[in-house]
Amino acid sequence: MQTARRNLVDAELVQQFRQIVGEAHVLLDTTSLDAYGHDETEELHYRPELVLKPRSAEEIAAVMRICNERRIPVTPRGAGTGLSGGALPQLGGVLISMERMNTILRIDEANLQVMTEPGVITEVLQDAVRQKGLFYPPDPSSRGSCFIGGNIAENSGGPKAVKYGVVRDYVLNLELVLPTGEIIWTGANVLKNSTGYNLTQLVVGSEGTLGIVTKIVLKLIPLPKFDLLLLAPFSSLEKAGEAVGAIFRAGHVPSGLELVEIDALRISSRFTDSVLPLSGDIEAHLLVEVDGSHMEALLAEIEAIAALLTEHGAGDVFFADDAQQKAELWKLRRRVAEAVKTEGYTIEEDTVVPRAALPALIRGVRQLGNQYGFHAVCYGHAGDGNLHIRIRKEGVSNSQDDPEVIAALRALFMLVRDLGGTISGEHGIGLIQKGYLDIVFSEVQLNLMRSIKKAFDPNNILNAGKIFDQA
Ligand code: LAC
Ligand code: ZN
Repeated sequence: MQTARRNLVDAELVQQFRQIVGEAHVLLDTTSLDAYGHDETEELHYRPELVLKPRSAEEIAAVMRICNERRIPVTPRGAGTGLSGGALPQLGGVLISMERMNTILRIDEANLQVMTEPGVITEVLQDAVRQKGLFYPPDPSSRGSCFIGGNIAENSGGPKAVKYGVVRDYVLNLELVLPTGEIIWTGANVLKNSTGYNLTQLVVGSEGTLGIVTKIVLKLIPLPKFDLLLLAPFSSLEKAGEAVGAIFRAGHVPSGLELVEIDALRISSRFTDSVLPLSGDIEAHLLVEVDGSHMEALLAEIEAIAALLTEHGAGDVFFADDAQQKAELWKLRRRVAEAVKTEGYTIEEDTVVPRAALPALIRGVRQLGNQYGFHAVCYGHAGDGNLHIRIRKEGVSNSQDDPEVIAALRALFMLVRDLGGTISGEHGIGLIQKGYLDIVFSEVQLNLMRSIKKAFDPNNILNAGKIFDQA
């Protein structure tokens, strides 16, 4: 059952919170409440009643015990870069910002592990381990601003997932504050673990609904020494989709295999003042990266991929010459979501299908666009079959509640399901996709998830109403 929004935080409670986290770390002013009331999700804005910025698991546990007793909704928040509304305090109550818990605690070079707090920016963590010759591959487009804790909550992916896997493939152990106020570790700092249910992996991707992660132990791998990058234009979007499968069938495993439809690339190009020439009769580009520690082998591999792409209909392949060109291409790709939003593509979908179904999905998106009157740009992690679909529908101001948008999205998600896919590959369900979960899960499956939620959070206070409503 969904709890309605109520005012629950009184003066006495504010005083208690001040004692726990310190006066300076309790925010009540309108400007702050507004700032913490939105993330990167389209159109949504909900003010919390107050914001707390704790510094330790113990402080969070003390807050949770009070909120659990008084049945006050608590919303945990990372950097606010989420795209499914997971950090939005739609029930009001207390928002816990993890921004002060931002220390990398230990880089364990002997075991190739890092222990970190959740409020560390992903790129800061990547840079810190890189300095030791180590690699933490998951790199969402927002890596320069998102927090590692948010990445755990959403089980983020990003371009490198195609070769290296997603966040969950690197999480070994988590310190977790339960909604009832206990502090636990979910597992052990080991590479193999068959000891009981895997609580660690249950928490990864649980969108802050099961507990608040306060320490994270991640697996690292040796840093590849070199990478090479190419951009291949295609006059047909579907052909680009077909070429993706051909790369793997030929035995290559790129470290990035991204697809960007031309409208999205043009918008991103304008947005970033890029000088990259985008010419002619092109519908989409593939951006392909290979990495490794043997340059000769990499050169041979990128040549072979380029030849294969040409066989599959690519135009002139552009090879990035140096670090600057590579950075320029990746910037164009990483900023697509931000850029297309400025041109009215506000609805962002995160569909994922088996890789071979990508051309059928692309075709389907076009048909649905004609049928339901929307314009879409497709881009994303083609190597994973993970296609972001940004939709623009003229005359719609509040897409979340617009019946035509809802009908179009239901049709899209049913197509995705029929192709063997699902509705979120890396952004999560949060608030904005939960109305569509019935398309991919039965009541039996949803009730199992509700039972798990209840076991962790009997009073449904932590990020309640995200993923699903409690039955
Ligand atoms: C990206 C984000 C939006 O791929 O997932 O750019
Ligand atoms: Zn993405």
